Amino acid sequence: MTDTESARPDEDAGRPVLTNRQGHQVYDNQNQRTVGARGPATLENYQFLEKISHFDRERIPERVVHARGVTTYGFFEAYGKWGDEPIGRYTRARLFQEAGKRTDVAVRFSTVIGGRDSSEAARDPRGFAVKFYTEDGNWDLVGNNLGVFFIRDAIKFPDVIHALKPDPVSHEQKPARIFDFMSQTPESMHMLVNLFSPRGIPADYRHMQGFGVNTYKWVNDEGSTVLVKYHWMPKQGVSSMTEEDAANVQASELGHATKDLYEAIGRGDFPEWELLVQMMSDDEHPELDFDPLDDTKTWPEQDFPPRAVGRMVLNRVPDNYFAENEQVSFGTGVLVDGLDFSDDKMLVGRTFSYSDTQRYRVGPNYLQLPVNQARNARVATNQRDGLMAYDNGHGGENPEVNYEPSITGGLREGRYPAHEEQGPEIQGRLTRARIPRTNDYLQAGQRYQLMEEWERDDLVKNFTDLFAQCTRPVQERMVWHCLMADNDLGLRVGEGLGIGPGDVSHLPPLATQNLDDDERKRLARLG
Ligand code: HEM
Repeated sequence: MTDTESARPDEDAGRPVLTNRQGHQVYDNQNQRTVGARGPATLENYQFLEKISHFDRERIPERVVHARGVTTYGFFEAYGKWGDEPIGRYTRARLFQEAGKRTDVAVRFSTVIGGRDSSEAARDPRGFAVKFYTEDGNWDLVGNNLGVFFIRDAIKFPDVIHALKPDPVSHEQKPARIFDFMSQTPESMHMLVNLFSPRGIPADYRHMQGFGVNTYKWVNDEGSTVLVKYHWMPKQGVSSMTEEDAANVQASELGHATKDLYEAIGRGDFPEWELLVQMMSDDEHPELDFDPLDDTKTWPEQDFPPRAVGRMVLNRVPDNYFAENEQVSFGTGVLVDGLDFSDDKMLVGRTFSYSDTQRYRVGPNYLQLPVNQARNARVATNQRDGLMAYDNGHGGENPEVNYEPSITGGLREGRYPAHEEQGPEIQGRLTRARIPRTNDYLQAGQRYQLMEEWERDDLVKNFTDLFAQCTRPVQERMVWHCLMADNDLGLRVGEGLGIGPGDVSHLPPLATQNLDDDERKRLARLG
């Protein structure tokens, strides 16, 4: 009998016994195996080596963006309609068809730039990612809380994130770097006006909106397509924090939003969002002053009314943070029949990036993990093996036939979609060109004009304080962009920096801009 066994109290007798992963009982978890009580240690001590080497591998790479987040579960309930019309007129996606039909969901809310233990009160966009476990397989709707994004071409994503992340030399997040990049990226103005207003610090995750941001398509039984944008509206209302509120919150708690969500679900106060969809015909819409595939733009609600198609309730927290929050994997490529991609140049880049990073971050068999499995559909594939494979994936009668086609058995191709590929015909020459209708300022200015006075004051203060930390050329270009968006915004920010319109009127438009007539008038105003 060892010292530790004799020390165990009697009441421990009924508790399960600790083992290692091989099922061997651990009879001493306090002392290594050594030659004599004072060492040296022996190297063949499997129990100790297994324990310490597994611990050494406990962390997986954190997400390159959206590292801090929280996952919860619930359901989506369809209304069966888009406004007064049966939804089947526009999409054949089965989860939407029948009023009252429920689909399980996992939702992960997140911040973007900080590491996995960073503050949830940071000024930062919030991620709003929903996984629908439908009977036709999973659908992921991976959105944010602000409705637009900084850039419109995926090739710029690593740059915008590098500018926003800490300096690679000092590891400090620096306004000088952020606005150095943004000053040369005029399409970011709409996002910046949102992010540096109080909307940029949501009070918590229950009181924020969600948006798909990118443009997707719906497909009906005839194979006809429409363009759609998705919006989540919280029944709890929308609420935000000022810098001062946020500083107070994070002084005592870095994870207030996770805590708030867990506590609300714990007391049965289940948060709920309504899903609304805007729709337009699937073409280029030359009559609009923006491109419907441009994710720096919103679609005016008076022309494209959002209509409610269902509601989502979150009512369960995970059993294990690592398995269900760190390893859950969302991606814009994960669509079900009846939903499709548009040619949005961000969406196509995102669609490659998500599963690519997940094969690296979680492993090539990340879709075998319970949280990522298409749990309400039948999965049968000829994909095999790889690191950490634990399920043969075949789901058929002849697992030895791991190829297709075969006349001896194995899996066959599906019967649906029993449709031709969908959508309009497209012709074009290979090129590298920005979209013609960039219109970088109109909606940024409109957003400023729609704000309440205190929100405008907050935005002006935040811009002024941050631009003050930038070089003079960056300040001038940012004031120029603000003036182009809205005269009042530009004058007020400029005043705080001692920069008037006369100081920036010599600046030419950036080489990356296509100024339209309206923007030329705005430019003339500066002179
Ligand atoms: C996470 C790439 C734009 C929302 C991620 C991740 C990558 C990524 C690599 C980490 C995924 C993981 O490790 O599991 C990109 C690229 C973009 C882009 C390349 C542009 C080309 C956007 C936009 C939105 C967005 C426009 C919002 C509409 C999210 C969300 C997550 C995420 C919500 C976190 C998902 C989760 O909770 O696991 N993104 N992203 N991203 N992204 Fe993006």
